[in-house]
Amino acid sequence: MIISIIAAIAKNYAIGRNGDLLYHLTDDLKRFKQLTSNHTVIMGRKTFESLPHGPLPNRRNIVITSNPNWTYPDVEVARSIEDAISKSASEQEVFIIGGGSVYKEAIEKGLVDNMYITEIKDTPKDADVFFPEIPDNFDVTYAEYHTADEKNPYDYIFVDYKKINNIIKMKIKVINKSNNPMPAYATEGSAGMDLMAYIEDNSSIVIKPMERVLIHTGLYISLPQGYEAQIRPRSGLALKKGITVLNTPGTVDADYRGEVGVILINLSQDNFEINNGDRIAQMVIKKHETAEFVEVDVLDETERGAGGYGHTGK
Ligand SMILES: NC(=O)c1ccc[n+]([C@@H]2O[C@H](COP(=O)([O-])OP(=O)(O)OC[C@H]3O[C@@H](n4cnc5c(N)ncnc54)[C@H](OP(=O)(O)O)[C@@H]3O)[C@@H](O)[C@H]2O)c1
Repeated sequence: MIISIIAAIAKNYAIGRNGDLLYHLTDDLKRFKQLTSNHTVIMGRKTFESLPHGPLPNRRNIVITSNPNWTYPDVEVARSIEDAISKSASEQEVFIIGGGSVYKEAIEKGLVDNMYITEIKDTPKDADVFFPEIPDNFDVTYAEYHTADEKNPYDYIFVDYKKINNIIKMKIKVINKSNNPMPAYATEGSAGMDLMAYIEDNSSIVIKPMERVLIHTGLYISLPQGYEAQIRPRSGLALKKGITVLNTPGTVDADYRGEVGVILINLSQDNFEINNGDRIAQMVIKKHETAEFVEVDVLDETERGAGGYGHTGK
């Protein structure tokens, strides 16, 4: 069984105030309904009591409470998270839908496989319930950036996290001045992380045929000595749109502290538009040697000698 968390989190991890939600973004509520419908939802007693119309329709509702007398029509009661999970053992995926205390316990006990997070670009000052820190062994597998509109009063990102098991990761410090999520590996086996364009004021940039443009990422990184970050093209953009990284692979040196930029060139015959948040290149963290040249008069001999430029045949 897959155990997933679903939550809407502000920039400061706030999720609730006075027993209620902080936000009612139409698209977030739609996504919540779409993901959880026809599944089991597990929640703390306080979250249940904050629901405006009682149990969520088309879902099996399990409420955790320590009160042995607590009941509610069409709701199953569990005495602990483990009890709620064991009640759903035959299900394919269950959703832990809050609140703060249940999220925290489930994450700390290592019970969670996936998280569907809506990151809301707001920092409320008066929240009283918070989401716990997302542990390092969760990687972003998907991110979808949205700007505010009349139904969704804040910019927000749908971000999916997946637990990664048994991978020891190097820590790299990053300042992210963009409003995009941090770069992350899309799958457990990915070598590169996608870099997103950071275009202030959410406008767009058009690259004309054969034009080259420096695209900002809003990222500043501090690599350990002996490592470089290679900036490489994305194969899909190259094949479908003729967009490549002009100096591929670009190198970000360990002692560079400026913004990571991506020099893109449009090798197609059509204009190519880039919007804030578009994935434009990938970054691979690589170990490298540091060499020293020793001047000599004679080099050791080899069978090939000076043969080159096609010497070994077609
Ligand atoms: N932004 C979001 O996505 C989101 C989602 C859900 C909720 N929220 C917000 O979060 C807030 C509620 O969170 P909260 O942390 O205050 O409350 P909560 O987690 O919803 O509920 C806490 C209650 O659940 C029961 N409980 C939790 N863990 C238990 C355990 N291990 N064993 C037995 N009982 C357990 C207890 O009920 P008894 O006291 O009855 O024993 C406890 O008082 C609200 O403001 C709500 O709107 C936000």
